[in-house]
Amino acid sequence: MHKDLKEILLTEEQIKAKVKELGEKISKDYEGKDLVLIGVLKGSVMFMSDLMKEIKVPVSIDFMAVSSYGYSSETSGVVRILKDLDYDIEDKHVLIVEDIIDSGVTLKYLVEYLKGRKPKSVEIAALLHKPERTKVEVNAKYLGFTVPDHFLVGYGLDFAERYRNFPFVAVLKEEVYK
Ligand code: IMP
Ligand code: MG
Repeated sequence: MHKDLKEILLTEEQIKAKVKELGEKISKDYEGKDLVLIGVLKGSVMFMSDLMKEIKVPVSIDFMAVSSYGYSSETSGVVRILKDLDYDIEDKHVLIVEDIIDSGVTLKYLVEYLKGRKPKSVEIAALLHKPERTKVEVNAKYLGFTVPDHFLVGYGLDFAERYRNFPFVAVLKEEVYK
């Protein structure tokens, strides 16, 4: 294990099994529907690419990039759109794919923003949720794991843009980000 990591919280195998399960649910729920997966860059990239392989109905994909953190490990509470959608989502079913619900601020903002584009529905697929830190109510219809309040990296999650490539989710040592 890399020296900056304290422990592995979710192994590659645990994540793979959960993603498969979520993919099966989504495949059933969206059978015969026009579904667009919207990945939130960059944290969702690994989850998005694994999840879409487990979805057995045809989907289209798009990405948005937002920022609420900068280079700190605490949310600023302000969401900025860095990259908007490439395609129109009017009358489509939208599933936002996100790495983690922390304060909930990002997803709450995104759901409201996307609803303004007149989709048929908007739901959330989030790999992780930290309930102890959640300040605003967001409802993820598809949720992978509930996790304790530690700063996590890997499987797309970063600290200052590093560690996204690790195929597992790990707890970052406090001395790295304090
Ligand atoms: P929220 O708006 O506070 O819910 O923050 C959501 C975003 O913060 C996520 O998309 C992540 O990019 C980032 N984030 C929250 N918690 C962590 C963490 O433990 N590790 C890495 N990134 C995190
Ligand atoms: Mg991030």
